[in-house]
Amino acid sequence: MTGLLKLAYQTPLEWVERVAEKPLLLLSDHAHNELKAAATAQAWLQKHPGKPDLVRQLARVAAEETEHFVQVIEILYARGGVLLPLGKNLYAEALLSRAAATRQDKFLDRLIVAGLIEARSCERFQLLAQHLEDRELRELYAGLVECELGHRELFLRLAYEFFPHEVAEARSAELFAIEGEVIARLGFDYYLHSGLAERVAAQ
Ligand SMILES: [Fe+2]
Ligand SMILES: [Fe+2]
Repeated sequence: MTGLLKLAYQTPLEWVERVAEKPLLLLSDHAHNELKAAATAQAWLQKHPGKPDLVRQLARVAAEETEHFVQVIEILYARGGVLLPLGKNLYAEALLSRAAATRQDKFLDRLIVAGLIEARSCERFQLLAQHLEDRELRELYAGLVECELGHRELFLRLAYEFFPHEVAEARSAELFAIEGEVIARLGFDYYLHSGLAERVAAQ
C-alpha cells in the first residue's frame, strides 16, 4: 500500500560528492534533524494521550531518534566538530508552506510530510552509505537506513489509520509530487535535505 509510493525526485550522485566536502557541517545538520524528529514524535504523543498503541509507537520513535542524535554527535565530537546553532530548515518549511495552499486537514498533511521527510532521509542515507569514501560515515548511514524506513512506514500507515483510504491516498500522491518539486528547487548547502539548484539570494 504505502510502500508503493516513490519519491518524485531522485537525488543525483553529485549531491553526495558535494556534501562529502564538509562532513562536519553535514553531521551537525543531521544531528539537528534527529533531535527535531524526536521532539515531533513526543509532541504528537502528548496530543493523543488516549491512544495506547499510538503512544507506544511514537515513544519508540522518539527514543530511536534520540539514540540516532547521540550516535551522530559522538562522531561529530570525535572529529573535533561542534553542534552548530539550529538553522532554518528550508526543506521542511517549503514543503509545509507549499502543501498549505491545497490543504484540507493539517494532521493528515503532517503525518504524510513526516513520512516523506523520513523517506527522503532514507534515500540520502542509502546514497551516503553506498558512495561516501569515509568508511565510518558509510557505516553510520548504512546502520540508520532500516530504522528510518520503519519510521516512514509508520507515519504513512498512521495517515491511512486516521483518515479514509481514498483521502489518505489522494493526499499522499499530491504531497509526494510537491516534495519532488520542493527539493529539486532548493539550493545546495551541507545539509541532509539540501538541493542542487543554484542558490537564489534571500528575499
Ligand atoms: Fe533517525
Ligand atoms: Fe526517523
